[in-house]
This record gives sequence, C-alpha cells and structure tokens, in this order.
Amino acid sequence: MDILKVRGLSKVYGGKVSYKALSDIDLTIENGDFVGVMGPSGSGKTTLLNMVSTIDSPTTGEIRIGGKNPHELKKNELALFRRRELGFVFQSFNLLDTLTVEENIVLPLTLDGVSVKEMDEKVIQIAKKLGITDILNKRTYEISGGQAQRTAIARAIIHSPKLLLADEPTGNLDSKASRDVMELLETINKNDGTTMMMVTHDPLAASFCNRVIFIKDGQLYNEIDRGDNRQAFFQKIIDVLSLLGGGAYDLSSVRM
Ligand SMILES: Nc1ncnc2c1ncn2[C@@H]1O[C@H](COP(=O)(O)OP(=O)(O)OP(=O)(O)O)[C@@H](O)[C@H]1O
Ligand SMILES: [Mg+2]
Repeated sequence: MDILKVRGLSKVYGGKVSYKALSDIDLTIENGDFVGVMGPSGSGKTTLLNMVSTIDSPTTGEIRIGGKNPHELKKNELALFRRRELGFVFQSFNLLDTLTVEENIVLPLTLDGVSVKEMDEKVIQIAKKLGITDILNKRTYEISGGQAQRTAIARAIIHSPKLLLADEPTGNLDSKASRDVMELLETINKNDGTTMMMVTHDPLAASFCNRVIFIKDGQLYNEIDRGDNRQAFFQKIIDVLSLLGGGAYDLSSVRM
C-alpha cells in the first residue's frame, strides 16, 4: 500500500516577487519505505517536506497520506491528524529546554491524554531502544547533540506514527553522532516498519535510505535505489550529486 501520494505538486511563494519553489512533483512512497531527498541548497527540499507535513499548503496539486488529503481537513482535525499519524525530526532538535528529556519525549502523549502508567511504560521501552535511559532526568542543556537528536527521535516515534518526516536530522551532528542516528533510524524503519522521508545534504546519511530522490530547481531530477550494497549506493549518490552541481557539496571530507 502507498502511504504517501503526491500528484502534480507545485508551490509558488507570494510576496513582492513571486517565486516558484516546486513545479509539478509526482512522488509515491510505499508503506515501510525509507526515502531520502537530496538536492542543492534552495532546490525545494524543505518546501516539499513542509507540504507533506502540512506545515504549509501547496499552490496546486494534491497530497494524500494514507488515502486522506490532510489539506482538506478542518483545523482541529488537521491538528489531530498531524499528532497521531505523523512524526517530525528537525536539524535543530526543537526540544523544550525547560523540560527534562523524559518530559520532552512524552509531550505528544500528554496532549493526547494517555495515562501516566502507559506513558511510563512507553518511555522506558523507547529510551532503551534509543540508548538514552541514563539521561531521562536531565535537562536538554545538559546533554550532547547526538543525545538531543535521539531524544527528538524518541519524541517523534513514541506515538507510532505512520510516516516520519525528517529535515536534515544529522545537520548539527558530528560524523560519529550522525552515523549513530542513521543506524537508529534504519533500525526503526526495519523493525517497526515506520515509513520515513528524510531530507539530507549528507551522502553518508542518505546511503542508509532504501531510495534517494534528487531535486533540482524545484523539479525531480533523478532517483536511485539502494539495492543490497550500501557502499555502492553511497558511490552512486556521490556521482549523482556531482552531476547535479551547484557546488553545495564538499565531498573531500566524506568517509565511509
Ligand atoms: N517562505 C518563503 N517565501 C519565499 N520564498 C521562499 C520561502 N521559503 C523558501 N523560499 C524559497 O524557495 C526556494 C526553495 O527553498 P527550500 O527551503 O525549499 O530549499 P531547500 O532545498 O530546503 O534548501 P536548503 O538545502 O538550503 O535547506 C528557495 O529559493 C527559497 O529562497
Ligand atoms: Mg531546507
């Protein structure tokens, strides 16, 4: 089954001078897939993710998530839909620093009126899975970037969303923490079957996906599949990126 169907999607930003950030995008993501989105800076990646996550609405075209068009929902239905069906991970973690790690993780459940007992059980389980059991009582300013991102991932998946959307989840992490986060996302995708769509600049992070789509100037440019060899996939990603140009990628520092 397809979890996400995007048809003829375009986005024009208004303002003094209008700007067409996306034109006529078609994209289908099957249940359980892990899709990377790459492309030069300004190519429209975040715009695409924001349309899918319903943060912003399309100018033309249609998005269906699990058969529903979220942009047709009423405001309160949309809030529920986002909270129940989607999970979000951002480059900047977006944790609340007045709360502990645990309080941040259960926040979505608190909003949904889940019992304390059930929340406690879920936190223990998820913290174990993400290796953050020891820091549950810390405040977010007392933890590392990698721990912060794992906390953000825990918060994004604690309600078992159908679709996890991530915008540069490794953008603020060093290479070790990046790899840890990617291995974790890969495990969650494989074991829980959570469908993922992830924007990234990092070819190594992208090589953990099953499939990578490339966007250039607001249009789909290319798409490649992982197959069974991650090393070869990584090389293919690099090749497409160098064809894409834009000088946005410094590949000299990239290491497997
Ligand atoms: N709210 C907005 N109003 C007007 N133009 C915008 C707005 N948001 C983005 N744009 C423009 O749309 C284009 C695509 O932006 P977008 O943020 O989707 O790029 P991106 O691929 O995510 O880039 P990056 O890799 O730098 O994050 C850019 O030219 C950007 O300047
Ligand atoms: Mg972006």
